[in-house]
Amino acid sequence: THVVLEACIRCKYTDCVDVCPVDAFREGPNMLVIDPDDCIDCAVCVPECPVEAIVHEDDVPARQLAFIRLNAELAKQWPTIVRSKSALPDADQWAQVTDKLPYLDR
Ligand code: F3S
Repeated sequence: THVVLEACIRCKYTDCVDVCPVDAFREGPNMLVIDPDDCIDCAVCVPECPVEAIVHEDDVPARQLAFIRLNAELAKQWPTIVRSKSALPDADQWAQVTDKLPYLDR
């Protein structure tokens, strides 16, 4: 499966959603995740994300391994998003920030 990492938090650009052929994205208040039961690893979403938040699970950096479980867990709680929408208001500022896990709203 592919995984959405912390770079998405407080950005949520949603460009990734429009290209997903299996509607695998789920929407939380300030981040999207990918449902591992739906993702077919086509990887078309990867280059769509302006902050490079999406990677294959085998390529998740050590510091962000928690996001593999987080995607799976939150995907079961959040609704499906099938069409892109406006990014969060301060997305461009938050795009520069790292270690955003403490800011995750669920
Ligand atoms: Fe998030 Fe990037 Fe999609 S910021 S909503 S993973 S385009």
